[in-house]
Amino acid sequence: MQLTKSTLASAAIPALVAAGTVPAYSGMTVVWSADFEGNAGDSVNTDVWNIATSINTNAEVESYTTASANLQLSGGGTVQLVPWKSSAGAWTSGRIETVTTFTPEAGKVMRIEASARTGGDATENAQGMWPAIWMLGDSIRHGTDWPECGEIDMMEMVNGIGTVYGTIHCSADICDPSTSAGYQGSTATDDDWHTYSVEIDRSSNDWSTESINFMKDNVTYFTATGAAIGDEAVWGALAHSPLYMIINLAVGGTWPGDPNSSTSSGYGNMLEVEYAAVYST
Ligand SMILES: *[C@@H]1O[C@H](CO)[C@@H](O)[C@H](O)[C@H]1NC(C)=O
Ligand SMILES: *[C@@H]1O[C@H](CO)[C@@H](O)[C@H](O)[C@H]1NC(C)=O
Repeated sequence: MQLTKSTLASAAIPALVAAGTVPAYSGMTVVWSADFEGNAGDSVNTDVWNIATSINTNAEVESYTTASANLQLSGGGTVQLVPWKSSAGAWTSGRIETVTTFTPEAGKVMRIEASARTGGDATENAQGMWPAIWMLGDSIRHGTDWPECGEIDMMEMVNGIGTVYGTIHCSADICDPSTSAGYQGSTATDDDWHTYSVEIDRSSNDWSTESINFMKDNVTYFTATGAAIGDEAVWGALAHSPLYMIINLAVGGTWPGDPNSSTSSGYGNMLEVEYAAVYST
């Protein structure tokens, strides 16, 4: 199907949610936040978000575009990243990255959070879908390679299987989840709205007892510590350095595998986000 605004308008039945306010956490202040208020079909605020279109990693099959079909405000205070398959079989989708960075401060706890849901399509129609909300070390924007830059994956789901993963990637394969179970955790989730958060806890003032905590709806399901990484410089790339946030809906790639002929295109496989925020003690 060729996508135009008029086909989208008739196809779009996005559920509206109440305009979100960022929740307050006791002892923390909001140091940055983004909402997605605006008219249905509008793009995101490009003072806040870079719209990434030239990404070609992980053997993903989608092309990222700036089209409202792939990336739009819903009109209900959310942003929707929507995968579409053309009649020729080419997938397109959306990816946004914060212009600014966030740096965990010594002696403090920094909490990064987003409220998100995925489209409601059945698992048999979600093969290849890979929604993600994650952080990369800003050093990758200044010449450092991956994974030395550090990566903290706050929310990833693959193939619509009802599991959210939290993962860290870092230098020298120390964090490689394919060789160690110590750098990735997971918990059950579903297509409803949930808050996904990461707390980088530097309150101990000792890198080895600092931690990165992955939470769904305020409940921690995985913790990585400096001691477990065992290398102060590698830990520093993850927990002491500026990070930026990425929200994307990948299609295919090394983790989920390719979509198949049952994979549905459109809102049933979207990633929808209500707010993103960063807090600090
Ligand atoms: C596509 O993959 C899904 C998930 O593994 C599976 O349930 C479905 O049967 C597959 N469809 C085809 C046509 O292979
Ligand atoms: C998480 O905690 C905040 C602050 O106490 C609260 O506003 C929010 O409702 C909680 N979220 C869930 C899903 O329990």
